[in-house]
Amino acid sequence: MGDDIDEGYEIIMSSTSSQSCTTWATIQGTLIEPREKETKEQIIAKIDALYESGVPFFTKNAIRALSDQLKTKTTSGDKIITKDLTGASIEWKVKIGKPIKLIYGDDLPENRKECAYSEAGVGYTSKPSLKQSLDWYGVQDTAYEPLSLTYRIRQLDPNSKTGETIPDDLEDTKDREAVAKDFQEKSQAWEESETYQRFKSILSSEVSDHNINKIVGLACGSLALPNNENATNQTALLVTVRSWLKDRNQNTDISCYIQDPMNTSVDKEVLADIGFEMIDDPRGWLEVDERSVVLSVAPNVPVKEIIADIARPAVVIWNRVGDEDTQSTDPDTARVRKMMTGYKLHEFGDGERWSDVVIYTRESKVAPIPREDGTFQD
Ligand SMILES: C[S@@+](CC[C@H](N)C(=O)[O-])C[C@H]1O[C@@H](n2cnc3c(N)ncnc32)[C@H](O)[C@@H]1O
Repeated sequence: MGDDIDEGYEIIMSSTSSQSCTTWATIQGTLIEPREKETKEQIIAKIDALYESGVPFFTKNAIRALSDQLKTKTTSGDKIITKDLTGASIEWKVKIGKPIKLIYGDDLPENRKECAYSEAGVGYTSKPSLKQSLDWYGVQDTAYEPLSLTYRIRQLDPNSKTGETIPDDLEDTKDREAVAKDFQEKSQAWEESETYQRFKSILSSEVSDHNINKIVGLACGSLALPNNENATNQTALLVTVRSWLKDRNQNTDISCYIQDPMNTSVDKEVLADIGFEMIDDPRGWLEVDERSVVLSVAPNVPVKEIIADIARPAVVIWNRVGDEDTQSTDPDTARVRKMMTGYKLHEFGDGERWSDVVIYTRESKVAPIPREDGTFQD
């Protein structure tokens, strides 16, 4: 993705999956009270020390506080305040509607685009990425802030006099009937598979006495966009969990949520038909608790790190946690490994469909009690 030629912006990144490519700008926040200058090495040591001492990097309170401000501070120039890991206040300027010029690819006239900051959202920076940012961007005021303000960047319509943006490929979806039919057909194949039977028997043998009343699917992708195999597999599995719980809980209400910013209005309708509510970030994190089943495969956000700080779900289905720290958008870190010591691992036994995704069931039937601030670190 290209360089920015507008002074106001800080970091531009594009988020690419097999389903779509979107552009996001993570703007820079500034410390309200400047602190003494620190070297990169000092900051890295402090991030490690904060992590080791159990300071949660993600809390429901901090995510909720930022999200609440995003709902009310919507005019360019408004200010949003967050508190970093050291307790220092960071100020973020709202930029919605502000123009930005971007160069997509090589700096050729045809690659220069007039764009605008569009929807604002929460950005999540994992512990490894906080440290890596120091190499990439140097020492910044947000060195100790895992939450950030991020904007969807949309191209301005050159024919519009009122600053309209061009709809992107996310609006270019199949219609509801076609998407629903495709999902039903693929779900049927899943329900006829041995893996489906095996998955249900794992639930029955491992968590039939766990108190579970919620399902949260994170980053499953879109059923309505092309290349929806993974989204379909993951959503079909969540539907299986829902049916299993409905049978087990004698049809009592099970809250079922799906959060992926890529989801479209067609996804929303199709998901509603199968009992799932499409929700916007950051509600998914706020919903996850000890009575939840959580699924997240190859997300572009540090789901494992966020969940390790805020909840001990009854079941998590995500990519196998390794013994070493990883550098990815959803890294394995010491806290994630520590969380997993309370879980039992089960293989899907179907590497073709599920690759390195595994099922973790919480050993303790009784839901662990979080700390007073709702987090789980010692
Ligand atoms: C590499 S794709 C993986 C999609 C799918 N799970 C799969 O296995 O192919 C990463 C997904 O993370 C989603 N994502 C990014 N930020 C997210 C957020 N804050 N909450 C939930 N999903 C998010 C993206 O929209 C994208 O669908």
